Amino acid sequence: MSTNIFNQAVEILARNDQGHYTVPTHGLYPFQWNWDSALSSLGQYYVDESRAWTEIETLFAHQWDDGMVPHIIFHKDDDGYYPGPEVWQTNRPVPTTGITQPPVAGFAVRRLLERAKDTEMARRRAAALLPKIAAWHDWFYKARDPENTGLVAILHPWESGRDNSVDWDAAFERVPTEGVGEFQRRDLNHTNPAHRPTQEQYKRYIWLVQLFRGLNWDYTKLHDASPFQVVDPGFNAILLRSSQDLAAMAESLGETELAAKERTRSDKGLRALNDLWSEKRQQYLCYDRVIGDVIDSPSIGGLLPVFAHIDKEHSTAIARHIDELGKRVKYLVPSHHPDDENYDGARYWRGPAWLIVNYMISDGLKREGHHDTAARIISDSVKLIETGGFAEYFDPMTGEPCGGLHFTWTAAMVIEFLKLTGEVA
Ligand code: GLC
Repeated sequence: MSTNIFNQAVEILARNDQGHYTVPTHGLYPFQWNWDSALSSLGQYYVDESRAWTEIETLFAHQWDDGMVPHIIFHKDDDGYYPGPEVWQTNRPVPTTGITQPPVAGFAVRRLLERAKDTEMARRRAAALLPKIAAWHDWFYKARDPENTGLVAILHPWESGRDNSVDWDAAFERVPTEGVGEFQRRDLNHTNPAHRPTQEQYKRYIWLVQLFRGLNWDYTKLHDASPFQVVDPGFNAILLRSSQDLAAMAESLGETELAAKERTRSDKGLRALNDLWSEKRQQYLCYDRVIGDVIDSPSIGGLLPVFAHIDKEHSTAIARHIDELGKRVKYLVPSHHPDDENYDGARYWRGPAWLIVNYMISDGLKREGHHDTAARIISDSVKLIETGGFAEYFDPMTGEPCGGLHFTWTAAMVIEFLKLTGEVA
């Protein structure tokens, strides 16, 4: 059974492989996505070690001069997706979007380096990526933390990777819809509308793109101009984990100055993250920078920080929280708390379980010694695939496969899980 699933996962990676990058799935997402590539490289490693490095190198080949690594790279034309390059107008040699995505590349590169069979190749390729990842991290602090708080803000829900999370609802109300003009969504040609964001949300997504485009994508202007500035604990935890991993790599490659800088940053960020802990919810919360207040929304974004080296007390509380969720749902981990009135088990990031998030959470839980909770998450993830196939996300109550099918990062995570549990040698 496991070998069969493993082989199917390998086939999906091959099916979505474009040679030097991978599409998340054909049709719905026909370009290269930032954190999809970083996480997918971990599965690719087991098929072709060199190819895994190429995935991340292609992503960084499109890094902007200011250090930003874009959320989508439009390698070739495809009118099956909206908004395409003509909407973003970022004026790049190969068109890209002008916003970013969760910076998980530092973590992925360290994992590739530590697992490497071809150590000489891995050290060489990691050394070349190191300054580029560092420049991206630098960009975050100059562009998204102007007041030097230690935490960075996202300016568009798409940056979080959790596009339509309930977390953004209240802040999103401030984003107008007037004057956006007519546009034609393409996502609904590929998927069930009940699994996708609403039309109202799409108008706001596009309004923000138009605002930033009007500022010529100048990072020194975007932060303060945006009516949407949210500190997402999950996003920050991914950045902090990548900083820690970058520091460890830098040390092993003899780059002591870089190592020290990344460590200082991650220590400061971890301290600042503590202020977002909610005793009531037993998880971290988002913070709305525009109104200066936390967002009391029980989503996966507040559990994901266990991926970074948070303190024992909070990681233990998160493990307990997930154990409780495990009694409520059949398959961990729901992206939104099922008891909350806004929970919707099939709608994208408002309830469904996602394997990439399961992977990052289980990784952190294991590091902190919460092996039973991690094992439950991993076994639920594999069960979801066995019954529902390699879907984009799944209803955590029924296991119904939702969104797009034949998903690259879902396949990559399955490969990871089967290798980590030893189910496939
Ligand atoms: C959706 C997801 C995002 C992902 C992208 C491509 O927009 O919300 O996290 O990167 O699809 O798979």
